Amino acid sequence: MSGPVVRKTRARIAGTGHAIPEQRLTNADLERMVETSDEWITSRSGIRERRIARADEANSTFSIPAARHAIEMAGVDPAELDLVVCATVTPDMPFPATSCLIQVALGAKRAAAFDISAGCSGFVYGLAIASQFIENGSARTVLLVGSEILSKFTDWTDRSTCVLFGDGAAAVVLRATDEDRGVLATALHSDGALGDLICMPGGGSRHPPNDPTSLERRLPFIKMKGSETFKIAVRSLADVSDEAMRKSGLDYSEVRWLIPHQANRRIIDAVGQRLDIPAERVYVNIERFGNTSAASIPIALDELNRSGQIQPGDVVLMSAFGAGLTWGAAVVRF
Ligand code: ACO
Repeated sequence: MSGPVVRKTRARIAGTGHAIPEQRLTNADLERMVETSDEWITSRSGIRERRIARADEANSTFSIPAARHAIEMAGVDPAELDLVVCATVTPDMPFPATSCLIQVALGAKRAAAFDISAGCSGFVYGLAIASQFIENGSARTVLLVGSEILSKFTDWTDRSTCVLFGDGAAAVVLRATDEDRGVLATALHSDGALGDLICMPGGGSRHPPNDPTSLERRLPFIKMKGSETFKIAVRSLADVSDEAMRKSGLDYSEVRWLIPHQANRRIIDAVGQRLDIPAERVYVNIERFGNTSAASIPIALDELNRSGQIQPGDVVLMSAFGAGLTWGAAVVRF
């Protein structure tokens, strides 16, 4: 005797959007600011230019329009949103949360809102959180934003970091579905013992702004031990991708797109090779945006989606790595 087929509720991606600053900073511009060269930056990182917010622009300047674009594509009324989540380490201010600024700008009156801090892995962490809200029935419609203005926390005298980062925002709308698509599997990890590899020591309660030496010691700026981070990044991205794929029950040959966090072209290429995914199925836009942290994967996702390069049924593997250290992956069927 067989009963009715009970399908699991999943979170499908119903809309995507992104918004970026107009202002471009090229490698040639950086050559005039620090001792560096277009050749060094391009060969070591793959970055040619990045977008930089103006002095009067902040995170919400971009996260709000990115959210509007995603909502518009999804055909959702903001009042339908149950939850607004913003992944960011560069909010407008420590509180209120940037997600609350987005919520009020959209008129998402019914939604609960909170930010998550998981560095460059923030968007993948957000997908894991948002999809579980939907799968367990706590929410039907969720807005997830990944948005960063790293340029405001960049030490423009430190050539080892200032050439790498860019600003931008992107969003997805997730909706409950009984179809066999949406977020199929996620895997998340952290190792706080390696927290000093990428950090911003100042600006919090350890070295607060009212410590007069904080700025002198250049504490409220991004610090990174690049080459140590590089090796761990390749291994972690490959391992966590394997884990999420195993959980999904799919094979790599079924993956239409790998969207890795855009931190370094050489990391992206090495991960693609380790996973044996052909280069034409690995999405790269780092040459135009640099490392936009939690925004990098959703910007790439929206570029692919809007240009028709993702079709219904396509499987997308997203995998990220960043400050914390944190790393994670998500397998999504469109
Ligand atoms: N221009 C010219 N020379 C430079 C520059 C620059 N902008 N920056 C560093 N150098 C020099 C260094 O001083 C060093 O010189 P030395 O050999 O005389 O000491 C040399 O170049 C090599 O430096 P490395 O740091 O070893 O260079 P590497 O090949 O490792 O590339 C990079 C550096 C691009 C930072 C790379 O290590 C990297 O991308 N790492 C990973 C970054 C990452 O994944 N971050 C995670 C996410 S970030 C987040 O979560 C916010």
